Amino acid sequence: MSQSLYPVSDALKSSAHANKEEYQRLYQWSVEDPEAFWAEQGKRLDWIVPFSQVKNCSFAKDKASVKWYEDGQLNASYNCIDRHLPDNAQRTAIIWEGDDPTADKHITYRQLHDEVCKLANGLKQRGVNKGDRVIIYMPMIPEAAYAMLACARIGAVHSVVFGGFSPHAIADRIQDCGAKVIITANFGRRGGNQVALKDNVDKALLKDTTACVEKVIVFKFTDSPCHWNEQKDEWWHELTANCAAQCEPVAMSAEDPLFILYTSGSTGQPKGVVHTTGGYLVYASTTHHYVFDNKPDDIYWCAADVGWITGHTYIVYGPLANGATTLMFEGVPTYPDVRRMGQIVDKHQVSILYTAPTAIRALMAKGDEPVQGSVRDSLRLLGSVGEPINPEAWQWYYQKIGKSQSPIMDTWWQTETGGILITPLPGVTDLKPGSATLPFFGVTPALMSSEGEILEGEAEGNLVITSSWPGQARTVWGDHERYNQTYFSTYENMYFTGDGARRDADGYYWITGRVDDVLNVSGHRLGTAEIESSLVAHPAVAEAAVVGYPHDIKGQGIYVYLLPTDGTEITPELTKAVRTWVREDLSPIASPDMIQWTTGLPKTRSGKIMRRILRKIAANEYEQLGDTSTLADPSVVDELINNRLNR
Ligand code: WTA
Repeated sequence: MSQSLYPVSDALKSSAHANKEEYQRLYQWSVEDPEAFWAEQGKRLDWIVPFSQVKNCSFAKDKASVKWYEDGQLNASYNCIDRHLPDNAQRTAIIWEGDDPTADKHITYRQLHDEVCKLANGLKQRGVNKGDRVIIYMPMIPEAAYAMLACARIGAVHSVVFGGFSPHAIADRIQDCGAKVIITANFGRRGGNQVALKDNVDKALLKDTTACVEKVIVFKFTDSPCHWNEQKDEWWHELTANCAAQCEPVAMSAEDPLFILYTSGSTGQPKGVVHTTGGYLVYASTTHHYVFDNKPDDIYWCAADVGWITGHTYIVYGPLANGATTLMFEGVPTYPDVRRMGQIVDKHQVSILYTAPTAIRALMAKGDEPVQGSVRDSLRLLGSVGEPINPEAWQWYYQKIGKSQSPIMDTWWQTETGGILITPLPGVTDLKPGSATLPFFGVTPALMSSEGEILEGEAEGNLVITSSWPGQARTVWGDHERYNQTYFSTYENMYFTGDGARRDADGYYWITGRVDDVLNVSGHRLGTAEIESSLVAHPAVAEAAVVGYPHDIKGQGIYVYLLPTDGTEITPELTKAVRTWVREDLSPIASPDMIQWTTGLPKTRSGKIMRRILRKIAANEYEQLGDTSTLADPSVVDELINNRLNR
């Protein structure tokens, strides 16, 4: 690993929201007296009823409970919009850049207010009340943000489903959260293609399990016609045509849910991670302020999708709570060609760019072409999120995209953490390429051995957090037991992240990746169990085992071992059909990279698949399989090695 050091520039030392000395003082304060520190940060927001109690949290096994600001009341939409109106109504809240490079839009805070209020009134007219769940399945257009904020305004709980997910995945989420309304668009656009969003919703609604949905509100984004169900469907523009542009924000308790976001775990179906109103918004605002050092003149671009937590916290809630100008990009960095990212930076004079290593690696593979046709001199800060950034990709991002002038904030966090936990801060942290560096204010990471001991000093182990922070997820929707089990049962009184990490002599953290059965494919979280259950639903598949393997661009690729059902003939067409099956059943993201058919899987005598062996073979490291003597039938290993696909 690279150990070169990139010190804080003199300019940032004096101009950033925090400097080295201040960080020490603030960090110390934040961990020694979290109540006082977070009470102070709580003042970033406007409260309808001020809080008097700050922190009330326990990580106790089997009864974890996390509450922040619990007697306070506020409204997230008010905080993201209304309070900016007296001074900044005409400031641009959202810059939208279309998939089509000639399409863009600027939305002021005033316009944002009016659009959000109209939709909020429309939702109320259709019977959506405080606490009701609303699924949002939208393209990357401002209306996706309007929909989120309209829900927040009336106290409805939104659950955004990534526009790349299949009807099956939508149906599961509708059923799990009991959604009353779905907000979607007739079509989306991505990389020059139309995405049939409404069609996918229709398919999801064919199932009996989705009968809870009473209304589908459809934004007409393209002129292409879509199927229409007179009973349930209603056009957004018709619903809102006569709605007032004023809507009183509902007073929410700080601990009322703001949203549910589904994410993959190591077992079973994706879980509905629940974030509440007060703590989440304080944390989103505080981290966005310090990590991105956002100033009034900045143009801030987080190139994520609103379907992921990064989009929630750092496209919508964090920047808007801070009155920033947030850029929302509908397309992909390789369309119409690989120069797009730089061109967007120039076109909108982006000063802060936050993207993912997988995008960087995809561009890096194209040599210098991605940085041709743009100057990118407006950039002053870069960010990275989603997976470990390898030092080569870091260097390319730093030198080519940032022209060696902008430090990279490598931010480590998770859907469950609500916001960034380990990160450099501009003006504070000297950078080491590949390291997420140091904990954010109030965050207390630790490394654990597999025997459950805390490791001190330079060490490598499982990453835990020992005390709560306001942005932490409060529960798994409808299954608090699963929340306890997943995060608090591994180590006593600690939040277990599922990640491994190394701490170096300077106390810097280097995230090494998941230590559980969760894959990280192009920065997207996928559970091996989820993919396996989709595979075995195919008639030709008797058994399936899924593992990750190192992939140059995606970070991790998906390697699948399949046992066919009796009498199945293995053909290239069948392999292709299985791949298509998973794409359509789950999502194109989950599409297997390699499919190896086999007559057996390496199992222990008790029938447990030894994934360690499968991972080694998938990584083409079959010479280091370790002990295979406990296998029920060691001979399957030779067959697996001989037929391995990754050579
Ligand atoms: C990984 C995304 C290394 C990690 C915000 C984590 C990272 C999972 C980084 C969460 C980073 C995220 N360095 N690994 N900077 N950021 N990860 O829930 O394995 O989609 O557990 O949240 O992504 O993914 P999620």
